[in-house]
Amino acid sequence: MMTDVELLLMAMKASEKAYAPYSKFKVGAALECTDGTVFTGCNVENSAYGDTICAERTAMVKAVSEGEKNFTRIAIYADSKDYCYPCGSCRQFMSEFNDGEMTVLCAKGDGGYVSHKLKELLPQVFNY
Ligand code: THU
Repeated sequence: MMTDVELLLMAMKASEKAYAPYSKFKVGAALECTDGTVFTGCNVENSAYGDTICAERTAMVKAVSEGEKNFTRIAIYADSKDYCYPCGSCRQFMSEFNDGEMTVLCAKGDGGYVSHKLKELLPQVFNY
């Protein structure tokens, strides 16, 4: 099992691939599956700004499209002053595939990070 720091380093490396010519805000994510596999992702922006895909959703879609739906942790990194928390849409998107027990590591530029359960970041999630 990887350490938090190892997973965060993968997220940091993934952020280098970000396509963010509009915001210049490069985000990377590293998503760990129950079997230990890790899928990385970065944000991919579009000139129609609303079509942008966040790093977390890129990683989730890569995993699910490869048949992985059970996740233990996700690390999110941006070279930012404050911790890079997942946006509301990504919180909802990640909630689709687990009961909120998955760990979300949110990092900032100096390498500091905070750890939350997904259910703390999105309590009383919409589900039916
Ligand atoms: N972004 C992410 O990729 N993940 C987050 O958790 C927050 C926001 C991206 C979307 C957009 O490309 C840029 O950061 C600025 O909002």
